[in-house]
Amino acid sequence: MSTETYLDGRRAVVTGGGSGIGAACAAALAARGAHVVVADRDAEAAKRVAADVDGEAWVVDLADTAALDDLTLDADVLVNNAGIQRVSPIEEFDPEAFRLIQRIMLEAPFLLIRAALPAMYARGWGRVVNLSSVHGLVASPFKSAYVAAKHGLEGLSKVTALEGGPHGVTSNCVNPGYVRTPLVEKQIADQARVHGIDESEVLEKVLLTESAIKRLTEPAEVGELVAWLAGPSARMVTGASWTVDGGWSAR
Ligand SMILES: NC(=O)c1ccc[n+]([C@@H]2O[C@H](COP(=O)([O-])OP(=O)(O)OC[C@H]3O[C@@H](n4cnc5c(N)ncnc54)[C@H](O)[C@@H]3O)[C@@H](O)[C@H]2O)c1
Repeated sequence: MSTETYLDGRRAVVTGGGSGIGAACAAALAARGAHVVVADRDAEAAKRVAADVDGEAWVVDLADTAALDDLTLDADVLVNNAGIQRVSPIEEFDPEAFRLIQRIMLEAPFLLIRAALPAMYARGWGRVVNLSSVHGLVASPFKSAYVAAKHGLEGLSKVTALEGGPHGVTSNCVNPGYVRTPLVEKQIADQARVHGIDESEVLEKVLLTESAIKRLTEPAEVGELVAWLAGPSARMVTGASWTVDGGWSAR
């Protein structure tokens, strides 16, 4: 890992920073010198990761979007990462679960960007990184809420890039395939059920069928890309979507 500290003196907020990809982003940004705010509804996890990266915890339930309407957020780097998954055919999809996913994964990123931009504009510098997914670019069956939210996040990220450009603010999406995190581990049983196969077959027959590289991505491999997008080499990089998917979307 690079020891360049190009984020010295910068404040980074990482949502869902208590686990998986978010925790890896927190570590990668802290390694570049950022002071990291680990935002998560899981207080214990947020505090644990915050202690690991010498940052601070922000215990917040991002599903409660009404509470974010009047927020002011002091962040030089904002990583919209918190997310959940539900796997079910549309006709059986719980409407409340659909709405919850839109709130956490689309409304909350909008409200956090909205809360962070004034200070970024005042400083003439800001980095927004949105954890999208291959499912922000293409669809898979049984993931209507997740695919819809991620496609929405792609649009939000591009608009942020267009509005932020003149103010020194970039906005990009990062689009992983399947990453080795609790979010993926939790969906293996659901995938087995909807596809009518054994849990042991899910990796080979569902998750990795489209990937040219037949393994799960490691969280740190995503964190490194996020840190690069926040760095000086990526000054001209905005409004784009960066796949880390082992070649899945090359098909
Ligand atoms: N794991 C993958 O294969 C994969 C692939 C592509 C994209 N992603 C995206 O990456 C992001 C992180 O996923 P992950 O796999 O690390 O998941 P994860 O389950 O390991 O971690 C998600 C974190 O978000 C937090 N969170 C969930 N709901 C929240 C809420 N309402 N308020 C605050 N915090 C909340 C959880 O407490 C948890 O700490 C998600 O947006 C996910 O869609 C993941």
